[in-house]
Amino acid sequence: MPLIPLRVLLDHAAENGYGVAAFNVNNMEQIQAIMAAARKTDSPVIVQASRGARKYTNDAYLRHLMLAAVELNPKLPMVMHQDHGNSPETCFSAIEQNFTSVMMDGSLDEAGKTPSTYEYNAQVTRQVVDRAHAVGVSVEGELGALGGLEDGHGAGLTQEEVKLHLTDPDQAEKFVAQTGVDALAVAIGTSHGAYKFSHKPTGDILKMDLIEEIHRRLPDTHLVMHGSSSVPQELQDTINKYGGKIKQTYGVPIEQIQRGIRHGVRKVNVDTDNRLAMTAAIRQVFSESPEEFDPRKYLGPARERMQAECERRMTAFGQAGHAGKVPTRSCKEMVTFYKNRKK
Ligand code: G3H
Ligand code: 13P
Ligand code: ZN
Repeated sequence: MPLIPLRVLLDHAAENGYGVAAFNVNNMEQIQAIMAAARKTDSPVIVQASRGARKYTNDAYLRHLMLAAVELNPKLPMVMHQDHGNSPETCFSAIEQNFTSVMMDGSLDEAGKTPSTYEYNAQVTRQVVDRAHAVGVSVEGELGALGGLEDGHGAGLTQEEVKLHLTDPDQAEKFVAQTGVDALAVAIGTSHGAYKFSHKPTGDILKMDLIEEIHRRLPDTHLVMHGSSSVPQELQDTINKYGGKIKQTYGVPIEQIQRGIRHGVRKVNVDTDNRLAMTAAIRQVFSESPEEFDPRKYLGPARERMQAECERRMTAFGQAGHAGKVPTRSCKEMVTFYKNRKK
């Protein structure tokens, strides 16, 4: 099956009331872990690459790894998505690399560090939508800003500052009407990275009610939750048991994500949990078998541990069992869909 556009998968998810995990990838083992989990649970797949991932893999390695994943899994529908495109140029280059979906994150400036203006965001997102839809590629936009990650993509907002950058439902309506995005990432109090909350989040810091309000106003827009790792205690404990230093932290509880899925969330971004899973497995091998130096002896267990984490998410979000049911519409077919919508 060729790669399919995000829109096709999320439309199916909306019709059938499930969410889809979007996992970040940077190397072969991560792609293999996701595909093995998808085979085991019969799940459609969203694989996404950040700008950092594209630089790390020099684009070409990533593209060929994805082609291998398609070749080896002909029955699994897969989306290849640009995560946090910082400019129209980044999104356009992703389209050239055969990505079937792009995120234009105009919520921050091009350097990815400072919250931008509404006008800038709407203008760059519209620009990407026009060009992406002309070739049937899907577009995710973002309104509001997340916390966390000073060094990677993100403004490094503290939990207090995050409250000032939550998505405004009025603005969300206007943004979707002005830009025509297929999916909208919303800021509801989460952060990228492991350090999201200093205690299990309650409704005052994780605003699930905001999702419900936005979904009420935009019932036909697919909502996206970023920063949705759950940061499992067991992974923190394993890393620390084998010499790591993760300060006690809390992620987004799975039951809150499931609540979001009942209210229009269709794409759930998860990266940190898989990073933690691989690190836990590698630390354990290094600690228990210090004589080992064959990378397969630690990357293999890392891949298995990540696969288990992916399987858990695929099952919890409800995408399991749907692989064979997603329509296999190509980007080319979506060109006509968007043209008809404009009329
Ligand atoms: O949005 C953040 C993702 O976890 C990707 O992180 O930019 O370090 O690859 P990265
Ligand atoms: P986490 O850091 O919570 O895994 O979020 C990942 C993400 O939002 C990627 O865009
Ligand atoms: Zn994100």
